[in-house]
Amino acid sequence: MTDVPEQDPWPALHAAATEAMARGYAPYSRYRVGAAGLVDDGRTVVGCNVENAAYGVGLCAECGLVSQLHAGGGGRLTHALCVDNDGSVIMPCGRCRQLLFESGGPTMLLLTVSGVRPMSEVLPDAFGPADLEHAHDRA
Ligand code: THU
Repeated sequence: MTDVPEQDPWPALHAAATEAMARGYAPYSRYRVGAAGLVDDGRTVVGCNVENAAYGVGLCAECGLVSQLHAGGGGRLTHALCVDNDGSVIMPCGRCRQLLFESGGPTMLLLTVSGVRPMSEVLPDAFGPADLEHAHDRA
């Protein structure tokens, strides 16, 4: 065994997202989602969607992923992907692109329905932490 990072992280991430998807709680939409991300320290973090009888309270899979990232010690996401019931890659919803951007920044790679793309393409000209850097100076 070596500590050399895996050359192609996507197969393992896809498997992790599919496993998480199977634990999704989606009794209302019947549409389970799983998400998986690679952290810059080598950890893999996952999430699944968790719906609620009060529909608007439901959580996307990416919410769980980001929570596991922070609960497990933080770090930066370098790669991420989401899958549906069939294990097919899906695009994160708009809100979740913003969530992923916070922890991955413009260079984080997302496996999309049109191949691997950086967040800078998936969420162009994103609003992010840098926009708030000097907010206190202006208050
Ligand atoms: N969903 C996610 O978990 N992530 C996304 O990026 C898209 C949508 C979930 C929310 C809801 O539980 C179900 O998919 C149907 O919208």
